[in-house]
Amino acid sequence: MNSLLGKKIILGLTGGIAIYKSAYLLRRLCSDYGADVQVVMTKSALEFMSPVIFETFSGKKVISEMFPKELSGTRHVDLPVEADMVLVAPATANILAKAAHGISDDLLSAIILVAGNKTVFAPAMNVNMLENPATIENIRILKERSYDFIDSEEGELACNTSGKGRLADEYKILEIVESKLAGNKLLDGKNVIVTAGPTREYIDPVRFISNRSSGKMGYAVAAEAVKQGARVTLISGPTNLATPFGVEKISIESANDLQKTLLDNNDNVDYLFMVAAVEDLCPLEFSKDKIKKNNIPEKIDLKLAPDIVSAFRKLNPQTCIIGFSVEMENGKRRSIEKMKSKNLDYIVWNDPSKKGVAFETETNEVTVFSAKGMETFLKKDTKRNIAQGIIKLIKNN
Ligand SMILES: Cc1cc2nc3c(=O)[nH]c(=O)nc-3n(C[C@H](O)[C@H](O)[C@H](O)COP(=O)(O)O)c2cc1C
Repeated sequence: MNSLLGKKIILGLTGGIAIYKSAYLLRRLCSDYGADVQVVMTKSALEFMSPVIFETFSGKKVISEMFPKELSGTRHVDLPVEADMVLVAPATANILAKAAHGISDDLLSAIILVAGNKTVFAPAMNVNMLENPATIENIRILKERSYDFIDSEEGELACNTSGKGRLADEYKILEIVESKLAGNKLLDGKNVIVTAGPTREYIDPVRFISNRSSGKMGYAVAAEAVKQGARVTLISGPTNLATPFGVEKISIESANDLQKTLLDNNDNVDYLFMVAAVEDLCPLEFSKDKIKKNNIPEKIDLKLAPDIVSAFRKLNPQTCIIGFSVEMENGKRRSIEKMKSKNLDYIVWNDPSKKGVAFETETNEVTVFSAKGMETFLKKDTKRNIAQGIIKLIKNN
């Protein structure tokens, strides 16, 4: 049985030349796969093609009006809530911009806002539109919020140029849609805690010791774990990142806060991803008042932060714990030692001396070690793809 049979899919059509290809796509979805497809067209899409062809293939009236004359109730909410997926193909630069910024000024954009990351975009546009920093940023925002993309391909474009921007091949779209709805999620029903970001160790109410962690890797792990079917609690130090869709976030500041929050939430945790960069250096004393300039001490006495993961392990022998290490010299040896001394199941080693790796970057490159002796290198990729690679590894090794 194919995984699309009876699945409710909203096919969003926007105003791009590639819309003619969506007629083939719709035909396959309905006739070959037996999906239950509701087509939603934007006003611009209606300029390119008549709805008749889409109504014929889907067996349903195409909808496009937010305020139709006939009674329609709250279909902009009901349809996406009931749908298994919203597939926007072709997706214009305009719909990506609207989705990235929460604009819902027509039926399709309102549906996307309600559906959240059930939405999959297959962009198609002129290469200049695609490579404009505004579009690049909008796609980045949406990917960070766990929206899926079926990236456009390189080739001849309708505007008589060539480059990236062609709608992905129909079979590729079908394959990706099918695999996303297949339901064989790697962390289905699992309870996952992800810690992310830096901690702040306060000297006084305004000054603190911290580190360069941006939280991007931890947030990517949290987003991917949700996508893989897990219930995810994200315990996060201060970052500028949006909370991934479907994640419950608890904000903390210091290593002590993190330890307390983690131990308060330690019931039935299947996986703990310790991605947070817990600051090792804590001031020995905290001044309740801001230290005056003329009273700044010459030296600040420090102590080590609590060993959070070891405390958690003592209480949770059954949890699979994935630690993250940032090591440069002798990184492999030191990472493996850390895994053994803290009784971790896996450790993910980042080497920040390499370009585009670890702190503050959009990409990462890691080596994953397991307590059973596995060693696997994941070459440089987006943090989201690295997160997916790590989850696949821990499920299969
Ligand atoms: C002939 C023609 C072709 C177009 N092709 C595209 C396209 O492939 N991709 C795109 O993003 N915009 C394209 N546009 C511009 C969009 O139609 C325009 O931005 C519109 O506002 C999109 O509205 P929508 O996102 O609500 O459908 C094209 C416009 C014209 C006139």
